[in-house]
Amino acid sequence: MSGNTNKTGIIIACAACGEKFNDLTPLATCSKCGGLLDITPALPALCSEKLQNLFDSRVSIGAMRGSAASRSGVWRFRELVLPITDAEIVSHPEGNTPLLERPAVSKYAGVKNLLMKHEGFNPSGSFKDRGMTVAVTQAKRCGATAIACASTGNTSSSLAAYGAQAGIPALVMVPAGRISMGKLAQTVAYGARTLLVRGDFDDCLRLVRESSEKLGVYLANSLNPFRIEGQKTIMFELLQQLAWQSPDWVALPAGNLGNTSAFGKALREAQSLGLIKRIPRLLSVQASGAAPFAHDFADNFAKRTSVRAETIATAIRIGDPASWDRAVSAIRFTNGVVASVSDEQIMQAKQVIDASGVGCEPASAASVAGVRELVARGIIAPHERVVAVLTGHILKDPEKLLNTTNAHGHAAANAPIEIDATLAAVERVLQTATKARN
Ligand code: F0G
Repeated sequence: MSGNTNKTGIIIACAACGEKFNDLTPLATCSKCGGLLDITPALPALCSEKLQNLFDSRVSIGAMRGSAASRSGVWRFRELVLPITDAEIVSHPEGNTPLLERPAVSKYAGVKNLLMKHEGFNPSGSFKDRGMTVAVTQAKRCGATAIACASTGNTSSSLAAYGAQAGIPALVMVPAGRISMGKLAQTVAYGARTLLVRGDFDDCLRLVRESSEKLGVYLANSLNPFRIEGQKTIMFELLQQLAWQSPDWVALPAGNLGNTSAFGKALREAQSLGLIKRIPRLLSVQASGAAPFAHDFADNFAKRTSVRAETIATAIRIGDPASWDRAVSAIRFTNGVVASVSDEQIMQAKQVIDASGVGCEPASAASVAGVRELVARGIIAPHERVVAVLTGHILKDPEKLLNTTNAHGHAAANAPIEIDATLAAVERVLQTATKARN
């Protein structure tokens, strides 16, 4: 361990070789062996009831009138994330996302009781803001002069937003020609320096890791353990919304495996603090064209594989997931399952989620598609309580939707129609629609 004293009481240690780092380290991975760093928070010495009351008190009207940090669904759990003061925190605020229930989606998934935790309600449009508020806060605490990430769109726009707020220049690397236009525009608008890399996400991540090691920029991908600490709050918040009564399953899309890792860690800590009595099972869902983790699960994690990833769901188009070790431990701890679903299953589930008025990006729909798959395989029972996490907003990858045809090869029934600017043209469309309904 080097450097100054640790104010927060957290312990940062390499998961592979055990090397310890102080809480202001600018490193995202171990300088000795390159392993992933893990954070052990100094868990508060409060009984579970007092802790639940403390978290509940921060959702009151009084708290809603306070600072951004006091209104944040991440920093509400700061004792379990990073115990620092409001003045040090870079918060939008973020979190406070809804748990939604739509009978049509439950019916489609094949369970009586499906809730959707919609992380697309975060300020930049995805769950990434939960990890980014912590990573950028930490970058500021350790005096970083630049922050960088690899991304397929959501991480980059989130980093760009928080970097702008903190006044730290952001550098993002995205696969050239393979990023959603809206997300690219959002990233540029927030002021990030954007590099279109001739390669895929895995190439971008390799490059950003090298830049972090050799050029000293602060790395903000989910390799960074502070990202994981922030993303744990998706789980804490959903458990709080369920009055700390665990569901039977929590389903989520899985790409680089940051969220799978964060959910496992959150559940471990929630159990050791007595906040929950029962551990829900995790269901991590990959796209079949980008499913190395599902493949390894089927092989009981005997070895780690990688693939050249291809799927319509850009956010999970990842062939060599960085948080593999952490995620294996999360799946084992929760008696979890890793499944894969086809692009067709993903787009079908998305159509149902969209048509219910909720909506999400393609990758997010993998969670619901995965629940349906596991019900069909008899692993999830129809009476079990399931929370499916929708990780991103419907406005990501819209071209996928407009270009999608149904199972019979026809465009969606409500595909946009171009008309002359006349009332007669409107009337004709209405008449055709009425005929089609009858
Ligand atoms: N869902 C969405 C909407 C995402 O943006 C991502 C990752 C994932 C799921 C996968 O989560 O990596 O924790 O398993 N998006 C990254 C990005 C690649 O650049 O925005 P994971």
